[in-house]
Amino acid sequence: VTAEKAGFDHFMLKEIYEQPKAYRDTMLGRVADDGKSVQLSELTMTKDYINSIRKVHIVACGTAYHAGLVGKTVIESIARIPVETDVASEYRYRSPIITPDTLVIVVSQSGETADTLAALREAKRNGARVLAITNVVGSSIAREADDVLVTLAGPEIAVASTKAYTSQLVVFYLLSLYFADTLGTKNTAEVSEILAAMQELPEQVESILEQALVLRDIAESISSHPSLFFIGRGIDYPVALEGSLKLKEISYIHSEAYPAGELKHGTLALIEEGVPVIALVTQEELYEKTLSNIKEVKARGANVLGIGNVGYEEEANKSVDTLFSIPRTLPILTPALSVVPLQLISYYASLALGHDVDKPRNLAKSVTVE
Ligand code: G6P
Repeated sequence: VTAEKAGFDHFMLKEIYEQPKAYRDTMLGRVADDGKSVQLSELTMTKDYINSIRKVHIVACGTAYHAGLVGKTVIESIARIPVETDVASEYRYRSPIITPDTLVIVVSQSGETADTLAALREAKRNGARVLAITNVVGSSIAREADDVLVTLAGPEIAVASTKAYTSQLVVFYLLSLYFADTLGTKNTAEVSEILAAMQELPEQVESILEQALVLRDIAESISSHPSLFFIGRGIDYPVALEGSLKLKEISYIHSEAYPAGELKHGTLALIEEGVPVIALVTQEELYEKTLSNIKEVKARGANVLGIGNVGYEEEANKSVDTLFSIPRTLPILTPALSVVPLQLISYYASLALGHDVDKPRNLAKSVTVE
């Protein structure tokens, strides 16, 4: 078993460190040699079909659902198709409006999650086309979907998903760019710019991993607190949700993720002296607004860790207690980097508390009951 962990203490840590490779493998062969377009030869959908899509429903559970929330913003901003993202166990019961011009995207690492499989069947019954994003080629979800885009993350053993999630993000970027090409929502220069920035992600993740010890110290100081908050605006918000889920899953520390601007409508009442707040501040357009939300929590005594961008330290440092900077990338791509420090914080918090990192209590890697 030690050998399978390749020298790492836990599968989760190994899988966190495999993310640069998972990024490269998931992009390999899908970006044209000239770097100007995406080729998804495994998709069987025609250009006519892509032109006919009126809306997209993304359906998934757990961490894959959080990838789907990022996917919504990515598809809407790059391909300009309206997207709704749903939790699979809710989807069927709200009688969603599924029509033949709805593309349903199911996201599942294992491809076996019962709720997600049931949602896929419901979508097909209603005449929608289903595209699966999964890490397991021969899985039930892969077999029943009309199209499959595989994440090439390699086997994920730890219950808390890391490299599968980030690879799902990569697939959403690729798919959106592929749609954009047909729909004409991005020109070649814009597509090339995004693809070039994506090629830098593996090395940028490596540079974050090199700072693991800084994150370990942060995690250790957080681990003595009973409760904390994650805040973020725009595409930072789904990353906040994922950071909070990761922490709950393996450290059992209670946390909540809030859109930074929504905190004042209720949850701010819970902020008191010493409460840790992890604030994602990666969206330049939203800096001012998020920084003012950070001031609100600081004024109530919160201890704020900011996750920001290299180059903007001066501004952010004025507002937060501690700052962790991620390398510069395009605003739409930041989730592929900003989640990595949150994964490491969860890992080290769980370790500090002496929990079973890879097999947290009450949870299973794949849930095949509804
Ligand atoms: C379980 C796992 C989660 C995972 C979820 C969805 O609850 O513990 O980590 O995100 O299932 O799994 P899937 O295989 O469908 O992505």
